[in-house]
Amino acid sequence: MLRKAVVGDIAALKLVRSSVVENILSDPSKVTDDDYEWFVTNPGVAIWEEKGIIVGFSAADPRQGNIWALFVTLGFEGKGIGSRLLAEACSCLQSAGVERAWLTTDPSTRAERFYRAAGWEHVGEKDNELLFELSLSADQRVESSSRSW
Ligand SMILES: CC(C)(COP(=O)(O)OP(=O)(O)OC[C@H]1O[C@@H](n2cnc3c(N)ncnc32)[C@H](O)[C@@H]1OP(=O)(O)O)[C@@H](O)C(=O)NCCC(=O)NCCS
Repeated sequence: MLRKAVVGDIAALKLVRSSVVENILSDPSKVTDDDYEWFVTNPGVAIWEEKGIIVGFSAADPRQGNIWALFVTLGFEGKGIGSRLLAEACSCLQSAGVERAWLTTDPSTRAERFYRAAGWEHVGEKDNELLFELSLSADQRVESSSRSW
């Protein structure tokens, strides 16, 4: 089930973030509780729940035009959850008027293959990660869920 995160979900979001085995934070102190709180209370964080447990989330940053987070707990991958959450984040950026979204990811990861398959274009490198971009022009309305939040 897709829903919008609330502040009380932040601890669970951090658990999902720390459960992944790729795109691990080299310095966990770089992502603070304030960051989570900003995303939860501003553009919104999309959450995927299975039987009441949060197993994935995404967050877009309309200030920078990028995907800030996309994480699915190990064991729940390959079921379409990441694609749904990515669509929500892209929809958020598109609604904010972002025409070209960007994100970075570690090379040779499942995420790299995932973004390529989703049509993202590898345009270079940023901070030792791969830089991807995707056009979000108005005539290419991003397919998002029938958002109930
Ligand atoms: C990258 C990541 C977000 C992808 O999430 P996901 O839920 O596995 O993604 P999806 O299930 O939507 O798509 C992945 C694959 O499942 C397939 N799939 C999609 N829906 C499916 C379904 N209903 N049933 C079976 N397979 C499905 C997709 O076609 C895709 O196949 P492919 O791997 O052969 O290309 C996830 O692997 C992850 O969190 N990785 C670790 C953290 C990370 O690197 N995050 C990115 C930070 S930049």
